[in-house]
Amino acid sequence: MTAVIERQRVVARPTGGALGADIEGVDLAQPLTQETTAAIKDAWAQNLVLRFRGQRLSDDDLMRFSRQFGELDWAPVAATTDAPEGRDYVMVVSNVVENGKPIGQLGAYEAVWHTDMSYVAEPPQASALYSLEVPESGGDTGFSNMYLALERLPAELRRGIEGRVCRHDASRNSAGELRRGYVDAPDPSQTVGADHPLVRTHPVTGKKALFLGRRRNAYIPGLPLAESEALLDALWDHASRPELAWYQQWRPGDLVLWDNRCVMHRRDAFDPAARRVMHRTQIKGDRPY
Ligand code: OGA
Ligand code: MN
Repeated sequence: MTAVIERQRVVARPTGGALGADIEGVDLAQPLTQETTAAIKDAWAQNLVLRFRGQRLSDDDLMRFSRQFGELDWAPVAATTDAPEGRDYVMVVSNVVENGKPIGQLGAYEAVWHTDMSYVAEPPQASALYSLEVPESGGDTGFSNMYLALERLPAELRRGIEGRVCRHDASRNSAGELRRGYVDAPDPSQTVGADHPLVRTHPVTGKKALFLGRRRNAYIPGLPLAESEALLDALWDHASRPELAWYQQWRPGDLVLWDNRCVMHRRDAFDPAARRVMHRTQIKGDRPY
């Protein structure tokens, strides 16, 4: 007698860019075998960003999948004034307005390069973004490889950040909106937020990555403000280079999982009259070291 064991065969197809791979042969609405999960984690460690196309996921499916990687983290404090059901594990990223109220965060504008929630002491290790509705064009999401950014950092800049931390501004989101409960601090040396090493070690791969978070109001404690500004500008110029990036053009049913420990991301603006609706989870991480 032969037992028929149905296996999902995981295929990882790298994008050919600086990071990212498509994972094929996996239906994330089904429970995953340990073998499948292990294969996905391997591919993730190697490719930093994974895309699963053609999915049909409920929020429960999205949360179950995300929990394979760790405990879920709360969604960030919203910029918009209405957070109907308080804090939640699923963050709605959307420009859609219903009955005069935005249903989600980040609007239709550009979101500049950033790492999610890096302004907290233990930032999420990963985010998973699932698209329900997307515009015809615009709203692409760029991802950039911070291992490569560090590898290619000019020696002088590398020396400049050795042993230094950066203060990550908690007051504004990646679309530049002030979060509820925060006041604007125009002088970056007064920034409120967590301090993290500029060079961090990935706890799984052991590799070192440049860790910048976001540019606005960032500050390198111990440096005069002007020096901190100049060093950060140079680091950001370098880290924003297109050859470190790969862009995701969304289709409905795409789930993209990225590693906040070694990846930054940004989003292009899109037509505010178009609808874009995505659901995001964030997975708890450790204190960067
Ligand atoms: C996010 C984010 C980008 C996008 O959800 O953290 O930055 O494409 N979103 O909406
Ligand atoms: Mn983000």
